[in-house]
Amino acid sequence: MLIHILGSGAGGGFPQWNCNCSNCQGVRSGSINATSRTQSSIAISANGEDWVLFNASPDIRAQLESFPTLQPGRSIRDTAIRAILLVDAQIDHTTGLLLLREHTEPWDVYCTQAVHEDLTTGFPIFNILGHFRGVNWHEVETDQSSFTIPGIEGLIFTAVPLKSEAPPYSPHRHNTVPGDNIGVRVENTESGQNLFYAPGLGSMEPHILPYMQQADVVLVDGTLWTDTEMVEAGISKKLGSEMGHLDQSGKGGIIEILSSLKKPRKILIHINNTNPILVDDSAERLALTEAGIEVSADGMQLEL
Ligand code: MLT
Ligand code: MN
Ligand code: ZN
Repeated sequence: MLIHILGSGAGGGFPQWNCNCSNCQGVRSGSINATSRTQSSIAISANGEDWVLFNASPDIRAQLESFPTLQPGRSIRDTAIRAILLVDAQIDHTTGLLLLREHTEPWDVYCTQAVHEDLTTGFPIFNILGHFRGVNWHEVETDQSSFTIPGIEGLIFTAVPLKSEAPPYSPHRHNTVPGDNIGVRVENTESGQNLFYAPGLGSMEPHILPYMQQADVVLVDGTLWTDTEMVEAGISKKLGSEMGHLDQSGKGGIIEILSSLKKPRKILIHINNTNPILVDDSAERLALTEAGIEVSADGMQLEL
């Protein structure tokens, strides 16, 4: 299977339009060794022709242009995206659906009941798309049962419920329910290899570890280096943990978790613009490299 990183940044992207943190300012002026990043999305295919889009970011238009494989020319209007899977209902993962409204048939969208609720109430994108070609909703269960996606042969999917935050506009904002956020295991039935993808990991619950241990690649939450990063930059009053993102450098953080894994290749995604790992020659980036952890970039492609 092919895994194409369309967007490796967190919400806001890098640089963020209104941000003057040292990273955003530095990448804009070219004074640091860093590469800009669009917002969180990947695409996966077993045959290289039929793709599942994981999350639809507000940057989808540029992301599709950056990866022409997703826009074949078989008819006057065409796409290689056969289905869309959403891991949560956050703006950075769902707004792109509106930009895909010109699709010639209803979109097959896979998400949990909780995400469906958000996208038909607090952020009613599905209702809006109903005025275009509409959405065929396929419920993703949160009981860790496997499922397949018609038209996507050779891949088996398993949703793993994760504790994170529901979006501000969610009816269950202050009362998170299973399915507000999922990780996904994607297995290639031919090679037997699998990916564990979790761009929003708020807490390391016991049921998650075996998925990581058994994965060939883990592609996980790289939002923040420290829990206090956005507070210290004067950007937010909220800690990473309050936003549903486990930091990398703290006790019990992402580095510690990933370092315990023997099998997988370890890659971070959904990297916030304040994170010092975005600077290619920073001490924090070096520490990751020494721990055997990679930082994804837009355009990166993996094969499993
Ligand atoms: C998140 O991952 O916590 C959200 O996408 C934040 C946001 O709204 O940008
Ligand atoms: Mn996000
Ligand atoms: Zn910034």
